[in-house]
Amino acid sequence: CSEPLPAKNIILVGFMGSGKSTIGRELGQLLSYPLIDTDSKIEENEKLSVADIFSLKGEDYFRESETLTVQQLISDGLTHHIIATGGGLPVRPENRPLLRELGYVVWLDANTDTILERTSRNSNRPLLQTENPRATIEKMLAQRNAIYQEVAHLHLQTTGLNIAETAHGILESA
Ligand code: S3P
Repeated sequence: CSEPLPAKNIILVGFMGSGKSTIGRELGQLLSYPLIDTDSKIEENEKLSVADIFSLKGEDYFRESETLTVQQLISDGLTHHIIATGGGLPVRPENRPLLRELGYVVWLDANTDTILERTSRNSNRPLLQTENPRATIEKMLAQRNAIYQEVAHLHLQTTGLNIAETAHGILESA
C-alpha cells in the first residue's frame, strides 16, 4: 500500500520497539521537520512517566490522553512534522481516522526478536513487564497487526534494515 507523501505530517505507528522514535529523529533530520512524540507529550502534560501514569491513573486514563493528544494535534493545524505515536494509539478505532487525517501514516513493522531485544533495554513499558515478555509480544502482535495494517498508508518491513535504509524506504515509497 503506497500513496503519495502529503505536504502534511508523517505519522509513525507500530509496536513498542519497532523504531518509531529512532526513525522519527532520522526523518526529522532528513526533512528538517520537528519531531513530536505522543508519549513524551503526555508525560510532559501529566508530569509523570508513562509507567507512572499506568500505575497511578490506569491504562484507560492513558488511552484517553492519547486520543486527546491526537485531537489537539489536529486542531493545532499541524503541518510538516514527524509524529511518533505510542504503540497502542491506533487500537482505539476512533483514533484511526484521526491519525489518517493528521498525515501520511507509516507502519514500522519489526519481528518479535527485534522487538524483544529493543524493549528489554528499557523498563518504561508497563505492558511488557510480564513473566514471559516474548509470549506477551506475540499475543499483542496477533491482535494489533491488522490494526496497524488498517490505519497505515504505507507498511514497511524494517527487519534487516538499518536506520538510514528505513528512513529512505519511507521517503522513496512516498
Ligand atoms: C504502549 C506503547 C508505549 C506507550 C505505552 C503503551 C502500547 O509506547 O505508549 O507503554 O500499548 O503499545 P512505545 O510504542 O513508544 O513504546
